[in-house]
Amino acid sequence: MVQRVPIAAEHVLHHFLGISRALAGRLDFQSMIEAVSEEIRFILPHDHLDVSLLLDDDSHLSAYETGLHTSWSDFAFHPLAIARSPIRTVLLGEAPYLLSDDAMNDERFQFPGALNHPIFDARLRSRLHVPLRARGEVIGALSCSSHAANYYTLDDVRHTQHVADLLASYLYALRQTEQAKQLAIAEAQIRAREEGLRLGVLRLTEELENERQRIGMDLHDQTLADMTRLHRRIGRLQSLDAVPATELAPIGQALHESMQELRLIIDAVKPTILQLFGFVEGLEDLLLRSVRNSGLAISTQLRDNTGGLANALAEPQKIALFRIIQEAVNNAIKHAAPLAITVEITASDSHLQLTIIDDGVGLDSASRLETGGLKNMQVRAQLLSAHVNIDKGPHGKGTCVQVSLPLPAQA
Ligand SMILES: Nc1ncnc2c1ncn2[C@@H]1O[C@H](COP(=O)(O)OP(=O)(O)OP(=O)(O)O)[C@@H](O)[C@H]1O
Ligand SMILES: [Mg+2]
Repeated sequence: MVQRVPIAAEHVLHHFLGISRALAGRLDFQSMIEAVSEEIRFILPHDHLDVSLLLDDDSHLSAYETGLHTSWSDFAFHPLAIARSPIRTVLLGEAPYLLSDDAMNDERFQFPGALNHPIFDARLRSRLHVPLRARGEVIGALSCSSHAANYYTLDDVRHTQHVADLLASYLYALRQTEQAKQLAIAEAQIRAREEGLRLGVLRLTEELENERQRIGMDLHDQTLADMTRLHRRIGRLQSLDAVPATELAPIGQALHESMQELRLIIDAVKPTILQLFGFVEGLEDLLLRSVRNSGLAISTQLRDNTGGLANALAEPQKIALFRIIQEAVNNAIKHAAPLAITVEITASDSHLQLTIIDDGVGLDSASRLETGGLKNMQVRAQLLSAHVNIDKGPHGKGTCVQVSLPLPAQA
């Protein structure tokens, strides 16, 4: 038996206060238990000190140790099932404490599946375990060990329990903070992944858009040019009277119509005006052209109150917004039989707002929103983190499509 010098009550109190001081400002479990180990050493000499903390799932624990290094430390990273802990009775609230004179020969620590090899590896003989309680529940255990056998007494159990009571609320608060931190990290990771995905899709849309434009240019420069040549040759044949006009005229007419259609397709896939002259001018052109091609008498109006902000948007944003407006304008012409279509662009500190209003028949309740052009609008807007709202127009007449694009915060 190792002789221990009894310590005076005032010294015990002094070290308890020292523990409180040492805990202040500790923001991680490891530095917390190292600080405690230093202070407690005078009241309770030990070769090894560890803290087991129950995890939220109530079936696993993590552990932090100081003094000696054993594989218990691994449980800070790979939680251990409580059922395998040699001190499970304390952790489960079944025993008020455990005091062992020789843990290497103590049957309580030896049961099938018990993870007790650190006791033997580190030759821990005297062991003392008390519960850490917070809010009326066991949240873990504080353990002290010594290489010497028969070292700790019931007085030590009492002292250790006082220390554990002091420590428990700090550990509880720290665990809550850690959990909140983990949650915040997980949320940030999800947000980063979503943002990455959004940027990836945006890049992809940009590439698709470039590809569409390339096809548009090929159709224009190659196919349309070939058709124009063919059309001219047919015209020449007609003037030669070599083939009866009744044969050639319908071919010429059919070719002319195909060329008209092809022009419309090219116009739709290639917002060149947008690139050459800018967003607002591109929209002006879109409105005029769409109405002209429809053959309907519709008046159009475009108002840009953003003072150049709309033209300064990033290229993919401009293209996506252009496509959204293109669809809204086409829908108005195709479905609404309106007298007027108005496009308005305004800006606030935080948002750019695009409004497309027609005074036509209005959406009927059976209108499909889940497929087709309206759905595409929503998807395009989502990729820009913008929001689309489709509603009745002013005074309940016609349709109003509103696109709201968040602008980056001003520094
Ligand atoms: N401005 C509008 N005025 C009246 N009805 C509209 C208007 N816009 C859309 N709709 C109605 O909503 C329906 C869905 O529109 P959506 O753009 O999704 O499809 P679509 O224009 O019929 O086909 P597409 O897929 O070629 O765009 C339309 O069929 C039409 O009935
Ligand atoms: Mg449509």
